[in-house]
Amino acid sequence: MQQDSANSEGSDSKMLSSKEIIEKYLDFYKKRDHKEIPNVSLLPKEDSTLLFVNSGMFPLVPYLMGEPHPMGTRLVNVQRCIRFEDIEEVGDNRHTTAFHMLGNWSLNDYFKEEQLHWVYEFFWDVLRLKPEKTFATVFGGRDGASKDEISVEILEEIFRGKGLELKEGERLFYLGSNWWQRGDAVGELGGPDSEVFYYVPSEDSASRHSSQSPDHPELDSESMPKSAQDLEEREDEFMEIGNSVFLQYVKTEDGWEQMEMQNVDFGGGLERLAMMVQEKSDIFETDNFWPVIQRLQELTKKTYKADPETTRHMRIIADHIRASVFLAMDGVLPSNKDQGYILRRLLRRIVRSGKSLGLEKDISVELVGIVVKMFSWLYPDLTEKQSSLEALFAEEEAKFRKTLNRASREVERFLEKSSEKDLSAEKLAKQAFTFYQSMGYPEEIFLEDLREHGVTIDTADFKSHFDKLEQRHKEKSRKGAAKKFEGGLAAHSETTIKYHTATHLLHTALRAVLEADSETDVAQKGSNITDERLRFDFSFTRKLEESELKEVEALVNDVIEAGLPVNFEVMPLEDAVETGALHFFDEKYGDKVKVYYVGETLESAFSKEFCGGPHVENTSELFPIEIYKQKKIGKGVIRLYARFKE
Ligand code: SER
Repeated sequence: MQQDSANSEGSDSKMLSSKEIIEKYLDFYKKRDHKEIPNVSLLPKEDSTLLFVNSGMFPLVPYLMGEPHPMGTRLVNVQRCIRFEDIEEVGDNRHTTAFHMLGNWSLNDYFKEEQLHWVYEFFWDVLRLKPEKTFATVFGGRDGASKDEISVEILEEIFRGKGLELKEGERLFYLGSNWWQRGDAVGELGGPDSEVFYYVPSEDSASRHSSQSPDHPELDSESMPKSAQDLEEREDEFMEIGNSVFLQYVKTEDGWEQMEMQNVDFGGGLERLAMMVQEKSDIFETDNFWPVIQRLQELTKKTYKADPETTRHMRIIADHIRASVFLAMDGVLPSNKDQGYILRRLLRRIVRSGKSLGLEKDISVELVGIVVKMFSWLYPDLTEKQSSLEALFAEEEAKFRKTLNRASREVERFLEKSSEKDLSAEKLAKQAFTFYQSMGYPEEIFLEDLREHGVTIDTADFKSHFDKLEQRHKEKSRKGAAKKFEGGLAAHSETTIKYHTATHLLHTALRAVLEADSETDVAQKGSNITDERLRFDFSFTRKLEESELKEVEALVNDVIEAGLPVNFEVMPLEDAVETGALHFFDEKYGDKVKVYYVGETLESAFSKEFCGGPHVENTSELFPIEIYKQKKIGKGVIRLYARFKE
């Protein structure tokens, strides 16, 4: 394949590798008196307003506001970043979640003149990008701030130096939106910016212009951008590769106020620059991703461009494995909260896309080593961490694969019995919510299933319905919590309450796992809870196999991890029996009983039982359990002991 030679680092003297691009960039600015600052952790320190470091300026905020930086007023670095808001776009030829930003800063030192000259000098003379494929935008004025005519003058001179006239509306565009700010809170910094765009047509874009051959799309008079809006809209042809922000405003209670400082904050995406430099129309064919794609080709025995879905899934995996490795390298563990949840989502999406490619096991383990090899020159700790990352990802992958396999069967069953009218965005959102509540099955993965089954759906509509259901559920569980408190929850120890809920989950899980292969009914015979463990007796003819115990444990732990709500309803005995809630058949109940259920609604619940309570509000309050002992305590009765692992 043509890419092989272009991507093997350094083998082709014409093509710079990403490593060389970084080295040349740092070198260029160091020669201009910049000091290199470290590439810091993705987890923001002393700043909890954002989940991840999303630009190189992130750690510099105090210095951009006047605090003296120990290394001076000219700084440069390469910084790993995550922008998770682009996750839905990953799969096309240019979007990624993790990327590296080349950055340089002037802390009230040089300003527009030097900055703009240097950017273009670096792009054209060092990276050898083509001036005729380069376009510029500048701030067009907004909210009382006037348009940036100074930058225009400087840019005209720069382009003229390469023999190009920079006429406004042709190669240069004023844009009111050319303003960058990290956030919107009081104290945030912002300023007008000047962006660099480069012509890099995607495979599909050529078809838009009758004058072009799809194999060799060229920038001709027909395909030149016609307006600022045109430039922005045709983002699969013109790619932003650098942004010089003139940070000189601070947000106050009364709006943006000019500071005394005139800072420069430049950022350029390394992976995108590699596309230009390595002459690829696909970011995944650059050396930042290609080795992963190659490995995927070997594993799946499919070629990357076999068909659009294969390409898309390989891209998703290649992006997500890189992001996962970087996150885990910085100490993130998969969990249900914040950064941990992002890592979990990435890994789950890898498993899902792997399944579409026919990979049913160990995808992450196969790929971690490739990413480590690619980036250990930049992150030397990675080599040492490789085996722990592999173990971490393998465990997460195996756990999710179980849910995925179970859920896939459910999804298929659901689609088989659905008619056209059941496939509206609203109905599908409802179904997604049921799957989410009962199995912890993420709605984004369900959407992926629908796509694979050829069900087209308005995803925005779907999401708004899904969000509404989630919101309603949150309100409901808050009310549930208030009610339970009135019921005298405080009299119980917290741990025994947790074990009580875990007992319900265990009961349902045992029935789910054992009844499938057995004639006998699995019914509760007794239960006993201490602060250290739960004990559960039930009818069954034999001791459980090791594999059955593991399956039961995994099912309980999946539900715990899914964070399902726990609620109850008080209802007439007959209605309660009708719901299918578990109860003792030989026990006398009153006319009205309380049915505790784990899940969003009584109908869709994972577990429902006649019970007086109390229980936790949400299974996420529990820890994963382990079944550590079993005994046969009489004819047809088995006793299990289980405890929380943490
Ligand atoms: N902070 C600006 C950006 O993220 C430039 O680095 O685009």
